[in-house]
Amino acid sequence: MNPELGIREDVERVLIDEKVIEKRLDVMAEQIANDFPPGPILAVVLLKGALVFAADLLRRIPRPLEIECLNVASYHGGTESSGQVKFLDQHLPDVRGRHVLLLDDILDTGRTLRAVSDRLKEMGCAVVHTGVLLAKDKVRSAEVEADYVGFQIGDEFVVGYGLDFMGRYRNLPFVGVLKS
Ligand code: XMP
Repeated sequence: MNPELGIREDVERVLIDEKVIEKRLDVMAEQIANDFPPGPILAVVLLKGALVFAADLLRRIPRPLEIECLNVASYHGGTESSGQVKFLDQHLPDVRGRHVLLLDDILDTGRTLRAVSDRLKEMGCAVVHTGVLLAKDKVRSAEVEADYVGFQIGDEFVVGYGLDFMGRYRNLPFVGVLKS
């Protein structure tokens, strides 16, 4: 019995398969490793969406690196952005003077990346570079683009490889579109 069958059955089509993601992450990791100035990198991972992407990307970066996670919410379980970014952690990491690599799963309206980058800068980090697995091809509500983008995709709701619908499908090894 295929234990993944239950969730795969809900997928209408695979947009980016596992092997393609792996190859792209190799390239992104090399770029990041070459771009960051000497000294330890502080990766700030936005939970929960960027968890899978970050785990696979960061293991490919052969540099001294620390990892912090931030819990932010913008979707509240559905398929539409709420328009507000909430910081859910009581304590935020100490980023003063650090070179930060901020990782999120997907750049959609841009509000999340904008709000978190601004907050990290307010908290005194030296530099914030941003990386996303996916960027939707659309006009953004917030002025922001990511420094490192895995794939440009159309403006449709996707799941898998960390991205969810109602908390599910994060464990799909590919990025796909659900049946309506
Ligand atoms: P914004 O609009 O702030 O969105 O750029 C970023 C956050 O919204 C979530 N998001 C998605 N989640 N499929 C998902 O599972 C999608 O197609 C999608 N688009 C946006 C995601 O949490 C991201 O961090």
